[in-house]
Amino acid sequence: MSKPLKQIHLAAHFPGVNNTTVWSDPAAGSHIEFSSFAHFARTAERAKFDFLFLAEGLRLREQGGEIYDLDVVGRPDTFTVLAALAAVTDRLGLTGTINSTFNEPYEVARQFASLDHLSGGRSAWNVVTSWDAFTGENFRRGGFLPQEERYSRAQEFLATANELLDSWRGDEILADQATGTFLSDAKAGAFVHQGQHFDIHGRFNVPRSPQGRPVIFQAGESDEGREFAASSADAIFSRYATLKEGQAFYTDVKGRLAKYGRRPDQLLILPAATFVLGDTDEEAAELAREVRRQQVSGATAIKHLEFVWNRDLSGHDPEGPLPDVDPLVGEEHISRGRAQVRMYRDPIAIAREWRELAAANGWSIRDLVINTGNRQTFVGAPATVARTINDFVQADASDGFILVPHITPGGLDAFADKVVPLLQEQGVFRTEYEGTTLRDHLGLAHPDAGSPAGRVAS
Ligand SMILES: Cc1cc2nc3c(=O)[nH]c(=O)nc-3n(C[C@H](O)[C@H](O)[C@H](O)COP(=O)(O)O)c2cc1C
Repeated sequence: MSKPLKQIHLAAHFPGVNNTTVWSDPAAGSHIEFSSFAHFARTAERAKFDFLFLAEGLRLREQGGEIYDLDVVGRPDTFTVLAALAAVTDRLGLTGTINSTFNEPYEVARQFASLDHLSGGRSAWNVVTSWDAFTGENFRRGGFLPQEERYSRAQEFLATANELLDSWRGDEILADQATGTFLSDAKAGAFVHQGQHFDIHGRFNVPRSPQGRPVIFQAGESDEGREFAASSADAIFSRYATLKEGQAFYTDVKGRLAKYGRRPDQLLILPAATFVLGDTDEEAAELAREVRRQQVSGATAIKHLEFVWNRDLSGHDPEGPLPDVDPLVGEEHISRGRAQVRMYRDPIAIAREWRELAAANGWSIRDLVINTGNRQTFVGAPATVARTINDFVQADASDGFILVPHITPGGLDAFADKVVPLLQEQGVFRTEYEGTTLRDHLGLAHPDAGSPAGRVAS
């Protein structure tokens, strides 16, 4: 008997601060105004997507001592945006990236429990640790916590937040229309946590929310990050969206679950993916080339090279050859606040490889960056894109994708109108939401399943 087809999970990443966004396009709108978020969320919900995703950065990125302003700069607070989106959507999950290094469990648990109440059970938390002291300077403790201790804090942070969220579990909560909510159990919310990173006790003050706990995402690549995901997350936001890399990552991470007593279907792998659609595959390919040139201006190409070379290369012509000098290694990095710094662990070898590539292809600096940087994941006519997405998912390169359009806020519209119906026809994507919570959409168990849950009497 052949394997049943996997159902695809789709999500929409509000593009924000990254080099995917083509903000110079006349169709590009605001990244701050609520109307952009609302349009994006409504499109995702119209397309029956699982959730909307917000990334977060807690400090403006810098390069060469100046604000990096070639991409969108700055973004509004995650919880505020998600709470507002809860009011203009009904079913769409709302996923926020929230840092476990610079926040406190009590505060974050309150915020997610509140979002889960406001949205009727649609909240999710992408737990990130961040790794640089630069971001920490914005906070009370300065750099705070060496990188190797950040996952230990993340683990305890999440466990503590869960203790707080569970502190109302099983309590009899009675809602009375006239007087509000009152408790029949005086112990509700009581917690005591003593550990390496947190020593807190008190009363948690948000009653149990529809999902009990937010859905947990993880987005780090190190071994510790993968173990954290395998032990504690419901889904991973990864950057491995090609068939081969996706399959390797999928096999690696799903293979780690058994030692935590978990099944492969209890951790979803959802890579970030970009797309360019055209009426035909040829038209889409041409459009994709244009989009790449818009994403990588001459100035962006130089900054990208500086990133690897760790030197000021502003005197170089982006349409000219690569620099003769080698990258600087081991010095303080020219770029601050960007996770990608760590992708280039051996810059001398990368420089050598890039010089060879440029020589072999006759590429300028800009050509090189366009051709070696992030190409679009899915390029083609809607039927091609739908088929490829489905092939990747059925081949276990992922359980679905978190789509990052290059135009905000309208970049998702064509995907919703042209690709989603084809996936629905193939029977691999929902035509209606079946449940109301994000856990329902993702096929994840409810934390209260099989145990006495808080009962709401109305
Ligand atoms: C696909 C992906 C997306 C990420 N998005 C964010 C983000 O929005 N905000 C953030 O602070 N960190 C983000 N991170 C980085 C995390 O902060 C992560 O905790 C950091 O990379 C350190 O973990 P690691 O050593 O396991 O990679 C992201 C990482 C990946 C792989």
